[in-house]
Order: sequence, then structure tokens, then C-alpha cells
Amino acid sequence: MLKTVAVTPFPGQKPGTSGLRKKVAVFRQSHYAECFIQAIFDVLEGAAGQTLVLGGDGRFWNREIVQTTLKMAAANGFGRVIVGRGGILSTPAASHVIRKYGAFGGIILSASHNPGGPDEDFGIKYNIGNGGPAPERITDAIHARTEVIDHYRILDAADLDIDQIGETRLGDMAVQIIDPVADYADLMESLFDFAAIRALIAGGFRLTFDAMHAVTGPYATEILERRLGAPADTVLNGTPLPDFGGHHPDPNMVHAHELFDRMFGPDAPDFGAASDGDGDRNIILGRGIFVTPSDSLAMLAANAHLAPAYATGLAGIARSMPTSAAADRVAEALGLPLYETPTGWKYFGNLLDAGRVTICGEESAGTGSDHVREKDGLWAVLLWLNILAARRESVAEIARAHWERFGRNYYARHDYEGIDGAAADGLIAALRDRLPTLAGTRVGDLVVAAADDFAYQDPVDASLSRHQGIRILFEGGSRIVLRLSGTGTSGATLRVYLERYEPVGGDLGRATPDALVDLIAAADTLAEIRSRTGRDQPDVIT
Ligand code: G1P
Ligand code: ZN
Repeated sequence: MLKTVAVTPFPGQKPGTSGLRKKVAVFRQSHYAECFIQAIFDVLEGAAGQTLVLGGDGRFWNREIVQTTLKMAAANGFGRVIVGRGGILSTPAASHVIRKYGAFGGIILSASHNPGGPDEDFGIKYNIGNGGPAPERITDAIHARTEVIDHYRILDAADLDIDQIGETRLGDMAVQIIDPVADYADLMESLFDFAAIRALIAGGFRLTFDAMHAVTGPYATEILERRLGAPADTVLNGTPLPDFGGHHPDPNMVHAHELFDRMFGPDAPDFGAASDGDGDRNIILGRGIFVTPSDSLAMLAANAHLAPAYATGLAGIARSMPTSAAADRVAEALGLPLYETPTGWKYFGNLLDAGRVTICGEESAGTGSDHVREKDGLWAVLLWLNILAARRESVAEIARAHWERFGRNYYARHDYEGIDGAAADGLIAALRDRLPTLAGTRVGDLVVAAADDFAYQDPVDASLSRHQGIRILFEGGSRIVLRLSGTGTSGATLRVYLERYEPVGGDLGRATPDALVDLIAAADTLAEIRSRTGRDQPDVIT
């Protein structure tokens, strides 16, 4: 039976960098999720009778919202919903399923690398028919709709069994439960030289993958252990848990420290990697080396032709603005266009759709290509393995050779988490006010060459995005970027991105903190971080 439920709008249902993310307690309020989902459905034009893809990273509240979404999709006239078994789909797998089955769009339930559990975070994101995150024009329309919404539609029906593969019905709508892994694993097999990677592993190459008790466990087990023949203990923390075992499923030095310890310890394997809550992020390590995501993007771009899918070369490379310029050097050397976009994967969608770029990346452990419209953690792992299988050199050797050819962009991001919102806004506003006068300023040995508030005009649809981060560029190619996070759920997070370029012939083997010392000091001087936030050091360094 179709029910129409009268509601009053909830304030603050504004999608951030990647969908609507809030504490589970917020989502658990009666009608809260329903209002947001109805707002999504209300702004979609032509969805009647169409197919919707549905799945999430398996965090606490995932199963409940899957049921709610199914009943609302049926009440809103969708013809079919394709659901990953158990309500599971990694973000890249969801993107692929949307594309493969020609769906109208998809709803992905995830708060990515944020912690999960009854007291932690949940999120809902809408992806469009190209498989990518809804662009700003749609997320803005969804937000506007949430502010005036007065009712939602839902089918009054019993919960569906979402744990058996097969097809059932909900009212007039078909519900198709699919294996969440198979389509994605097949796609990976079509892109890479699995035989070469299998031979590498069979020859004694040792690897380890930390799934962090998040969604990539089943994907990595199928691909690395079953299809590529890696030993059964290759995937660590491979069972997805609703609270990720009480940890942050965020692959960085702090939250994946066991992996780091192992890769820097005695008897380290040849290759180590980890992914995040919903499987779109990746970090790459070799024995005794961490490859920064910015470097990883550059190294993948420089070597991608070694994998079958990219054998004929790349159309172009895109990186988010705070990502280091390492990829720019590769683009320059290969004669490829390089696009610098605002933070967030949604800005890559148009470039990929238009065939302007093949590979994209963000400093926040995100890399991907035109095979889907999301960043893709396991894809990056497999491209690295394909390159290692082709070159038969170690990760450290590949990195060293890369820097010797292109120079090295020493890079780090400093995060100040949970700071006072007004203080954070004040810091950015004060910097913004000083932008016109910063050029020429000397800070220690550094001289500001230019400073601006990054704005981006999409070259495909000409849409303009302003206020995407403060850039302070120094003479010699060093740089500081400051912006506030758009994915946090409590207080504000200030991100400070630090980058120093060391050209070919310079000292390419320094420890990153040493190489960045003067930039760290300059950031504090220019942005008054200590005095405005009350913090004398960052919470997380990535
Ligand atoms: C963060 C990352 C950004 C990424 C996003 C979603 O956003 O910085 O690169 O696209 O998560 O995974 P932020 O919190 O900085 O707005
Ligand atoms: Zn993620």
C-alpha cells in the first residue's frame, strides 16, 4: 500500500564534498533519511520506470536504509532496483554496476573513511547515470528541495530478503539482488594483465592488503587470492564489520599503522596496500617506502601504458588542486593535457565523459580512470601490480627512477580536526582578505609569488565553482594550500597542504618532514594557525 507521509523539512540537509554525511543519531530521527531520499527522487527528471542501483559499505544503519530506499523507490515509480547482496556495493563497484546495466542512477550508502557504528557516521550519496557523483547543479537542487519538502512517498510493505541472489518484486517494481563482487572483478580482469600478475606472485613476490574490516574485504579476497593466486593470508581484516572493528577505515599512517609497521619492519613484503570504508581510496607501500598518493598518481600515469587497458596511451590527466604537481611533470613530458579541478571526484566526471582525461587523482588517497566514474582503491592496487609485473623492479626502484626523471614533489597534508567552526571560518576569511597584498611577502627564506582563492570553470559545461581553497605559491615552485573539509560531521577540519618541488639533480632522498620544515613554519606565520585554532600541531599528517 502506498503511503504519503506529511513532514516538515530538516535544516542542514546539504550534501558536502561527497553526499550527505551526519552522525547515525541524526539519520535515526524519524523521517530524516526519508526526507533526503525523497528530495533526491523529487529532483530527478524522467526516472519513472527506470533502474536504480543501491548498495553501501555495510556500515551500521546500511541495512535499514536499504529497506527504506527500496520501499520509497517503489512508491516513487522506479521500474527496477539492482541491489548488491546484503545491501553491499563498494563505491567503485556501484559506479560500474550503474554503467554496466544502464541504470538511471544509484544511491550509495557510505560515509567513506569516517568511522561507523551507532555513535559514528552514516552517509547517503546520489550518483548519476554515468556512474559518477551527482554534479553540483543536482546536489544544489537536492538541498533546495530538502528545505521545502512537505511529504514523502513510501510503500507500506514488509522488509525484503536482500541476502539471496535473484529477483523479486516490491509492488510494481522489480528488485534484483546481485553478487556485489562478480561484475567488478570481471571488469578488473578486463583491464589488467592478470596472467603477468599471477606469474609475479607465483614467482615469490609477496604482497599484503589491509581491508580495514570494510567493504573491500570480499573484493580483495576474490581478486587477489582467488583470481591472482596470492596466499590465503594476503588480505588482512577482510571481514566487513558494521563498526569497522571500532577503527577509522581510513588508510593513512595513523589508522593503518599496522600495515605501515609491517612494511617498514624486518621481513617486509614487497608490496602493501589498503583501502577505506567504501573501497574508493588506496594507499601504496613498498618495502620501506610509502608512495604519497600524489606521487602514486604521477607514477601510475607515467607507467600506465604497461597495462593492456592503457597500452595506447592516455588522453590526459586530471588532479584536484591540492594534489601535488608531480602529475603535471608527467603530463608535460608525455605531451598530455593536465586539468586542475576543485577537491572532490565529482569534478572529474565531465572530463572523463568528454574523453579529455583517462587518469585522475586526489592527494587524499584517491586514484581512478575512465573505467568507472569514481575513484577506485583496488584498481590502483592492480595497476601498480601490473606495472611491477611488467618492470620487475621494486616499488622503491620505480619511485627513485621516477624522481630522477621528473624531479620530486615533497608533499604532506596537515589536518587540524574538530576545531571551532567560527575560528576556522575566521582563519580562512582573514587570509582571503589579505590575498591581494600577499605577493612579494617574505616569510623566512620563502617569497610569495602569487596567492589566490581557487576558482574552477568546467571546460565542458562552463559551470563555475568558487572558493575552492586558498593557494599560496612561492618562488621556486613550493606551495601551501589551505581549505576547510567538506566531509566532516563534527566541528571544522582545517587542511593545510604543503608542497616543495626539488628538481632533477637536487636532493631527491630527503625525509619529507625535513624537506617541508620552512613551509610548515610559513603556513603558521601566514595563516596564524596556532593562535586562531589554539592547536600547536596537527591531529593527522598524511
Ligand atoms: C575529502 C578529501 C577529498 C575527497 C573527499 C571524499 O574531502 O579531501 O579529496 O574527494 O574527502 O572522499 P574534504 O573532507 O577535504 O572536503
Ligand atoms: Zn571512500
